[in-house]
Amino acid sequence: MKGLILSGGAGTRLRPITHTSAKQLVPIANKPILFYGIEDMAAAGIKEIGIIISPETGGDIRAAVGDGSQFGVDITYIPQTDPLGLAHCVLIAEDFLGDDDFVMYLGDNMLEQGLEEFVHRFEASRKSDNPATAQILLARVEDPRSFGVADLDDEGHVVHLVEKPEHPPSDLALVGVYLFDKTILDAVRAIEPSPRGELEITDAIQWLVDQDFLVRHEVLVGWWIDTGKKDPLLECNRLVLDTLLSHNDGSVDEQSQVEGRVVIEAGAEIINSTVRGPAIIGKDTRIVDSHIGPFSSVSHDCEIINTEIDNSVILAHSRITDMTRLTESLVGRHAEVHKAPERPRATRLMLGDHSRVEIHD
Ligand code: TTP
Repeated sequence: MKGLILSGGAGTRLRPITHTSAKQLVPIANKPILFYGIEDMAAAGIKEIGIIISPETGGDIRAAVGDGSQFGVDITYIPQTDPLGLAHCVLIAEDFLGDDDFVMYLGDNMLEQGLEEFVHRFEASRKSDNPATAQILLARVEDPRSFGVADLDDEGHVVHLVEKPEHPPSDLALVGVYLFDKTILDAVRAIEPSPRGELEITDAIQWLVDQDFLVRHEVLVGWWIDTGKKDPLLECNRLVLDTLLSHNDGSVDEQSQVEGRVVIEAGAEIINSTVRGPAIIGKDTRIVDSHIGPFSSVSHDCEIINTEIDNSVILAHSRITDMTRLTESLVGRHAEVHKAPERPRATRLMLGDHSRVEIHD
């Protein structure tokens, strides 16, 4: 069994962060999203992993993941020139995949449950008299219109899959984890690009169903988040922070208070401040005269001075000063956020393309 992780894509919904960096490397509880997927694969016994990368962010992904030895796996990078769809990723991974079964995993998705049992049940099916050709994971969602959606018949068989339907046939969305045997290569070669110009994995799986191959499905246990937008990303950060075990490798002065589930990484300094967990303060970050509220992840080498923050993810090397309350925010690398001087009363901005700002006056 091999692994294929999709870490290319355009990432338009997470601009401006994705103008300069890969969305799969945005940290959740100070660890890149992509690392959780690689670790889950390693835990499921998968040692050979191909990663699809784009020309824009592939270099950063290679630099962060390396040859995979830090995870105990072997990584092969598969460049994709343009984001031509999830099924296109299978097509260009053909040489890497060979004749092996594989798990395909969307590099910006996070699941509470590990992959181990999902993979084992596919392996068991492969050895049975009626082996599945593919296995999909479904989750019930309130508004399925922005997902791939599966329709089941009365006996619970997958009969129809459709990408981002205007009138969803069910509330069962496809989670970004799929298991396939090599027949999927015939499927991705047989389908045509969709109206949005992508080779859709839903169309490829539909092709398998239409050719009478068995497509198994399971309904997800636990949470699943597609972190490709700001609010789901913050939600994911909250869920993961809630599972951390407190430890302090930095320093907390006598004027400071640390309450609840808090991780303070090496070299971090908490000075005359309160940190109320769940929260994580990254390596060599300084928190001075500030209040870090629940569900905040502050990455490494940041400076937070005379500021209140909660429910936010602050990326590395950022500096935030004199902010009364920053909430539900995602702040990119090397960003500066400061309170404006009292006079003249004005807001001064230097924002990257596609930035979004909500100002409280
Ligand atoms: P999406 O989030 O569906 O697509 P996207 O990354 O282009 O984002 P947006 O819609 O905001 O523009 O992709 C899911 C995952 O698959 C993500 O990790 C990127 C990856 N991907 C590829 O590697 N190649 C592709 O051609 C596509 C479409 C996605």
